[in-house]
Amino acid sequence: MKKILIMNGPNLNLLGTREPEKYGTTTLADLEVMCRKQAADMGYEVDFFQSNYEGALVDKIHEAGKAYKAGQLKGVVFNPGAYTHTSIALHDAIVGVGGLPVIETHISNVHARESFRHHSYISPAAAGIIVGCGVYGYIVAMQVLANRP
Ligand code: DQA
Repeated sequence: MKKILIMNGPNLNLLGTREPEKYGTTTLADLEVMCRKQAADMGYEVDFFQSNYEGALVDKIHEAGKAYKAGQLKGVVFNPGAYTHTSIALHDAIVGVGGLPVIETHISNVHARESFRHHSYISPAAAGIIVGCGVYGYIVAMQVLANRP
């Protein structure tokens, strides 16, 4: 069965208790359950990965690029957290593996927040972007991937 990779970057392990007025009260473990259920409903498996380390996220994208080319992975739902606004390395990893569909997903509406959150290094490399839909955005992103040819 094909997989969908759900990747979360720094501080998203704190979901549920971290600034709940911005990110809600759903924990990362709750989110994993939601994503696994959605994937099963669509006939996919989930690989759920979170890291606070930029290099670990780069390595995971490289791995995902290989799995995509081997026909084992449908694509990636990626919330890069604060690395969104800083990481040329993550941009280069997505572009570098070639063709990997990544749906950049943010829980909060980054455009309604501080100006340093308005720029994303990931967006030019992403197949799609979902912003400000809460954790439901991950479900939408998975549906987008599942419905791609
Ligand atoms: C975030 C938005 C980022 O600006 C922030 O650094 C995060 C979470 C979001 O999901 O809304 O860590 O990616």
